[in-house]
Amino acid sequence: MNQRFKKIENVSGTLILPGDKSISHRAVMLSAMAEGESILYNCLLSEDVITTISVFREMGIKIDIEEDKIIVWGNGFNGLTEPDKNLYLGNSGTTTRLLAGILAAQKFSTTLIGDESLSTRPMKRIITPLRQMGANISGENNCLPLIIKPTEYLRPIHYELPIASAQVKSCILLAGLFIDEETVVIESKETRDHTERMLGLKVVEDEHGKSIYSSMDYYPIAAEYKIPSDISTAGFFMVLASLVEGSELVIKNVSVNETRTGVIAVLEAMGANITAENVTEINGEVRGDLIIKSSELTNVEFDDEIIPNIIDEIPILAVAGVLAKGDFDISGVEELRTKESDRINSMCRNFELLGLNVDERKDGFSVSGHITNYSAVLNSYGDHRIAMAFAILASIIHGEFTIDNFDCVSVSNPNFLKQLESISKL
Ligand code: S3P
Repeated sequence: MNQRFKKIENVSGTLILPGDKSISHRAVMLSAMAEGESILYNCLLSEDVITTISVFREMGIKIDIEEDKIIVWGNGFNGLTEPDKNLYLGNSGTTTRLLAGILAAQKFSTTLIGDESLSTRPMKRIITPLRQMGANISGENNCLPLIIKPTEYLRPIHYELPIASAQVKSCILLAGLFIDEETVVIESKETRDHTERMLGLKVVEDEHGKSIYSSMDYYPIAAEYKIPSDISTAGFFMVLASLVEGSELVIKNVSVNETRTGVIAVLEAMGANITAENVTEINGEVRGDLIIKSSELTNVEFDDEIIPNIIDEIPILAVAGVLAKGDFDISGVEELRTKESDRINSMCRNFELLGLNVDERKDGFSVSGHITNYSAVLNSYGDHRIAMAFAILASIIHGEFTIDNFDCVSVSNPNFLKQLESISKL
């Protein structure tokens, strides 16, 4: 479906956004592995998380979706059963990579398949460490389909992450839960830490970074999860409220885990007016209400260390940068080429369609000049975050913009359009 967007004159009101995608995936997975009933409040029910729910149902886990909660009836250690078909993982990289860690320890074989985008995403990053652990895993050209067969035994490893990836870290830590002795993952650049928080893993920090320990001692137990709203989803509305003059927006109960708040830090450095109220910690995850008032934004330099923290927010931060004072420039983000689309390419092509000057590099890009085309048809590239980032751009400036295949937003936020409408005065 193509979707048209027009400038919003004013943004006001309160938004209650769905649960954090990373935490929702993990809450379903850990509950499915635990013994007994877990209750998940504010779990995101987007396509990606529904994929996670579906694959655990296919492995014998009863999961009830009720109006205000999800109930997962875990079968405990060795409680997953062999699915009778290939596991279809849709568009979800997080499901695939985390699940592979769990499946590596099972006594049955599985084949993981996905949609066109997921089928081209790199899996060597998990195949290599899982093989070091003794897992029997292979992928066609290191991509999907992934075939995971039972192994005699898994051994613990000490693994320094060659790329800053919470998915790879979590994959190894989840496999480590099936082993007596300690597996250690060492990360030199901090990535989101939901897995270690939710499992209560031991974390030791020194000058080289963080070492995270996993073993059978940390095997998940049934729990109640109160999932905060997704800061990555909130990021789109933070930029909208910042750049539409005279706006004031409240976004309730947003995850402000410091491995995820880089988007706020960057926007504040650009001059945004964002404050957090009612900050509390529940289930080891900090959350608070964000109040955003409009302000002038100016481009800033990106610090290398912050990139993993803002990896999902770069599309919306690039939109903010293009509309801010000065030229937008970012480097060290080659990882963006391995996301739901090649996000460097997706952003650069759309900025060109708007008439901007783009300098695309292997690991980044810069944008200068002025928007000259105010009636562009922009491409989502089937990528939810590209679709939403350009929808926000089209809601801030004058003109008539269309974004193709806008349905892809359902991957992380099926109600994006309703939320946008609820806070907009046209
Ligand atoms: C995620 C980690 C990030 C992020 C993705 C979710 C997670 O991926 O981009 O949307 O839940 O662990 P990488 O770990 O591959 O950077």
